[in-house]
Amino acid sequence: MEKQRRWARAAVLGGAALVLALGVVACGGDDDDDGGDGGGGGGKIGLLLPETKTTRYEAHDRPEFEAAVEAKCPDCEIVYSNANQDAAKQQGQVEAALTEGVDVLVLDPVDSASAASMVNLAEQQNVPVISYDRLILDSPGVDYYVSFDNTAVGELQGTSLSNKLAEDGNPTGPIVRINGSPTDNNATLFGEGAASAFEKAGVTVAKEYDTPDWSPDKAQQEMEQAITALGQDGFKGVYAMNDGTAGGAIAAMKSAGIDPKTIPTTGQDAELEAIQRLLVDEQYMTVYKATKLETDAAAELAVALAQGQDPPEGLVNGEEDNGVESVPSVLLTPVEVKKDNIADTVVKDGFWTVQQICTPQYAEACKAAGLE
Ligand code: GAL
Repeated sequence: MEKQRRWARAAVLGGAALVLALGVVACGGDDDDDGGDGGGGGGKIGLLLPETKTTRYEAHDRPEFEAAVEAKCPDCEIVYSNANQDAAKQQGQVEAALTEGVDVLVLDPVDSASAASMVNLAEQQNVPVISYDRLILDSPGVDYYVSFDNTAVGELQGTSLSNKLAEDGNPTGPIVRINGSPTDNNATLFGEGAASAFEKAGVTVAKEYDTPDWSPDKAQQEMEQAITALGQDGFKGVYAMNDGTAGGAIAAMKSAGIDPKTIPTTGQDAELEAIQRLLVDEQYMTVYKATKLETDAAAELAVALAQGQDPPEGLVNGEEDNGVESVPSVLLTPVEVKKDNIADTVVKDGFWTVQQICTPQYAEACKAAGLE
């Protein structure tokens, strides 16, 4: 089925000659003896994650994906790499994974646009590609996309901050916007979702920055610049796109003598440090994305593709336009987390334990929040 899809696509794209050429490659594409496309019990799966500064990848995505594959396919092998925010490095990692003979690539691109060339390479070897968490743009070869509803993430952040500003008596802000990496398609979607919420509420943006590599250090510098330009009283809230950038922005406020408790700041990823900041009111909200659901779905698809089978019925629940094709997608629902629902979200799911969150420094705040 997967092959047929690829053949059909190739026929549309390049005519009969290309189909023939691909047909030849297809025979060589699974030359390992792990049973890959042959429908046996094993398979080689390439998992390529984009960075390490955001803690989710090494703390959750990688181990959860490995466990999910192990449970579904004990004989499958995973070839893992992390690009450390370097798109060129990721290109090399894709080439290495293909050389190792992976049957499928699960690729979370550093750069959503330039990753199209990596899909091209995979396609030449008849290796299917799952675009993981971030959509690979302008590529006709992406087989599946697994992510959260990323516009909804931005809407949650924007609505939450707008409501808090209104509650504080500052319904129009203004706010400082600390965006994520401009090469990450998710940052575009988060930004669109947030902007629609701010527009609806009439919240204005006094300063806005894109943060290369989602780097917390760069976010801190951006916030320092904003404080210098606007003055200590020149903004009433901070839209930070994820918890790493929120941490940078909050550090900048603290070192400028601004009490972060007085400036609601958003985040995303439910990082441990962010959950602790929520407890002591230094950060207002974060967005919990249950990575386990995402890794489960990706593992389900990857194992099926590695074994030349169709994905389980009902798993794919949508489509996403990547600029040149509509990619069958699994899209999950993000959840807002504030101090009062930590127990019902991240703790309930086992994303973090009370023990991990409630270190001695946070013991009192944990008690007050009913986390014991
Ligand atoms: C996004 C991802 C977020 C966050 C960010 C920084 O693409 O959806 O969860 O991790 O990248 O890497």
